[in-house]
Amino acid sequence: MTPQSLLAAMLPLVADLARQIPPSERYRRLLDAVRRLLPADAVALLRLDGDALVPLAVDGLAPDTLGRRFLVGQHPRLQALLQAQGPLRFAPDCGLPDPYDGLVEHVHGHLPVHDCMGCALRVQDRPWGLMTLDALALSRFDGVDMVALQSLADLAAATVAAAERMDDLALRAEDAQRRAEQYRRAAGSTPARRLVGRSAAHRALLREIALVGPSDLTVLVGGETGVGKELVVQALHAASPRAGRPLVSLNCAALPETLVESELFGHVRGAFSGAVAERQGKFELADGGTLFLDEVGELPLAVQAKLLRVLQNGQLQRLGSDREHRVDVRLVAATNRDLAAEVRAGRFRADLYHRLGAYPLQVPPLRERGRDVLLLAGAFLEEQRASLGLGNVRLDAEAQQALLAHAWPGNVRELEHVLARAALRALGRHAQRPRVLSVGAGDLGLAAPPQALAVAVAPMPALLPDATVPLRQRVQAFERQAIEQALAAHAGNWAAAARALAVDRANLVRLARRLGLAVPARNGRRAPTG
Ligand SMILES: Nc1ncnc2c1ncn2[C@@H]1O[C@H](COP(=O)(O)OP(=O)(O)OP(=O)(O)O)[C@@H](O)[C@H]1O
Ligand SMILES: [Mg+2]
Repeated sequence: MTPQSLLAAMLPLVADLARQIPPSERYRRLLDAVRRLLPADAVALLRLDGDALVPLAVDGLAPDTLGRRFLVGQHPRLQALLQAQGPLRFAPDCGLPDPYDGLVEHVHGHLPVHDCMGCALRVQDRPWGLMTLDALALSRFDGVDMVALQSLADLAAATVAAAERMDDLALRAEDAQRRAEQYRRAAGSTPARRLVGRSAAHRALLREIALVGPSDLTVLVGGETGVGKELVVQALHAASPRAGRPLVSLNCAALPETLVESELFGHVRGAFSGAVAERQGKFELADGGTLFLDEVGELPLAVQAKLLRVLQNGQLQRLGSDREHRVDVRLVAATNRDLAAEVRAGRFRADLYHRLGAYPLQVPPLRERGRDVLLLAGAFLEEQRASLGLGNVRLDAEAQQALLAHAWPGNVRELEHVLARAALRALGRHAQRPRVLSVGAGDLGLAAPPQALAVAVAPMPALLPDATVPLRQRVQAFERQAIEQALAAHAGNWAAAARALAVDRANLVRLARRLGLAVPARNGRRAPTG
């Protein structure tokens, strides 16, 4: 690298600083310049987010890298780079594991990284993140001038500072989310996952969250099973002025009809047999915050009427009490049912439907999110890596293709389960724990969908009604058959059948009950329903 080539590469970036271009494009140009100047096989720009480094842009690394979060405490090289006073190059015999082992693209097998260096970026005197450079050959970086690398890093810092200012709006939403996360952590619950994705459909969803989150509108979150409705609700709460107050959830499907009402509104002592003490309902617990009614389509009609009254006048009564409480609660509800159809079928009150759906928000199915599948896969594999205690877990090219080609009827939840199983299967093929675990297409087990598996285990005649029968009954017949087959394939184990069908166990039981199938009693036995 000569001073001239350095200047030639840096000048366009300096010019970019004053232009309005999307951050992703800005970062791409930066990495592009770095790769033209330095003989690296892979470069990455990572931003420090709490205790983790999040890749914002990568060049030469597997696409799923963008979905990963590298916990600094778990990656000693990244930690050393962050702490160094200037650029740092690791000695070839440095024993520290490399976070990118196996992730460098266009290499058959998984050659470990051999030459590696990087530089911390500081913005306004605070650590902002890292730029890392990796080469697969030893001594590749021998001729690199560290002063030039420092200049590049300074320019990179200016670039990210500019990008951040221009991305101010998005940052504010993220800030709110971080505050909410702190609140949740302080409250002792597990921190929420981030909503991973970059597709147009995903970005449109984020825009809607940023738009409606800060308002007090009641939001009805819809979408197929496993699309991430619960995470969306958390993001809505985090983006609201109520973020510092509790987000209280009630799963309407998981409770028997008699308990839903007392869960929502609370009860006084003696209100019903078993009500031995006075109890606050979820509405009161959520005062000042957000109440999340999950699976709201399952709410019994009688409770729907009471809920509507509370929403209309903001007053609620505990069961068995005649005293009225005033609560300040923002309501968010979710369902994977077509509530409009439920209204037409008389199972859901039209007035409540309109009240809940002040702002309907539809979460797109995974099959409409393109390459987000790979980002999500990266995020889930990073979790697997940590829980299995591995150096790294990567997807080979065929596995990536298989993930992109699958239709994902169970959406993100199905993807998460598929990858958890695949990592275990891939690990099972090794006698010794490998440093980089490679997941292949075969490990994913996507060729045989659960239903096909069930048919293979328990062959059953197809008894589906013919085309003269109304659609609804045909769908129900199909659902009944799919559930029976999954149960047969898993020896009547409801949890296993639910996993195979990629639905919540509680939802499966609820659906089975609606379809008139025998469902497990509370103590786990199978009991017929009336
Ligand atoms: N965009 C995303 N990024 C990261 N994880 C996600 C994303 N979307 C969903 N998930 C994960 O996928 C799983 C399913 O999501 P969630 O429980 O929110 O689905 P749901 O829409 O509520 O489904 P159901 O209707 O069956 O209740 C969860 O583990 C969630 O953390
Ligand atoms: Mg849910």
